[in-house]
Amino acid sequence: MTRLNPKFRSVLQGKKVLITAGATREYLDPVRFISNASSGKMGLAIARSFRSCGAKVFLVAGQGVPEFLKFPACIVTSARDMLEESQKRFPRSDIFVAAAAVSDYRPESCGRKKISRNRDPISVRLIPNPDVLATVTRKKKNQFCVGFALEDEGHSGLRKARSKMQTKNCDMMVLNTVSSLESDHIDATILFADGSSRSLGKVKKSQCAQEICQSIAHQLNKKSRP
Ligand code: CTP
Repeated sequence: MTRLNPKFRSVLQGKKVLITAGATREYLDPVRFISNASSGKMGLAIARSFRSCGAKVFLVAGQGVPEFLKFPACIVTSARDMLEESQKRFPRSDIFVAAAAVSDYRPESCGRKKISRNRDPISVRLIPNPDVLATVTRKKKNQFCVGFALEDEGHSGLRKARSKMQTKNCDMMVLNTVSSLESDHIDATILFADGSSRSLGKVKKSQCAQEICQSIAHQLNKKSRP
C-alpha cells in the first residue's frame, strides 16, 4: 500500500470530511425494500484513508454494514433520510465525498401491513428520489465536493462522468464501472474540474481511496497557494 506523501497528509490533518456510503433502502411494506448491491467497501476505504491522515470523518451511511460504526456515523434507511442528515452536516464540513449508491426511485407508497401472497400479479409504481449529492452541493461555499459516477463499460463513460461532475457541482469525480460492485477492486479514473484525468486502472479499493485522498489534498494545496 502506498503511503500518502507527508506534504499532503498535513493538508488533510484536522479537516472535517463528510462521506455518504453504502446503499439506501426504499421500503414498499414493513419487510420488503428496493435497494442495490453496494457493499459500502469504497466508502469505508475512503473513511479509513482520511482518518489515517488525521482528518475528522463522519459517515452518513446505509444499513447492514457493521464496520460503518467504527466511525462517527449516522445510519440511515432511505435516500430522503440520507439527504436530510447530509444537509445537516454539510455546512460544517470541509470535504464532502458522495460514495453512496443511492436508490434513484422509491415506491410511491409504503403499506403499513405486509403485502400478502396472492395469485394475481401486482405492480409497484416508483417515483424519483432526490439526488443527495446535487441537492447538498447547491449550498456549496468552500467545501471540496467529490462524486462517483457508476457507468457501464465503454467509451461514453468519461463523457457521462464529466457531465455528472458539472450538473452535481463537484470538484472531482471518480468514474467507475459496475464490475466494482461488491468487489474489493475498482476500475477507476479520477476526473478533475480543469478537464484533466488520471486513470488508476483496476486497483484495490484501499489503494483507490489513497489516490482519492492524495488527489483532494493536491487540489486543496493548489487552491491555497496565492
Ligand atoms: N447520487 C446521489 N443521490 C442520488 C443518485 C446519485 O447522491 N439519488 C450520487 C452518488 O452517490 C454518486 C453520484 O451521485 O456520487 C453519481 O451517481 P450515479 O449512480 O453514477 O448517477 P445517477 O445520478 O444516479 O445517474 P444514472 O443512474 O442515470 O447514471
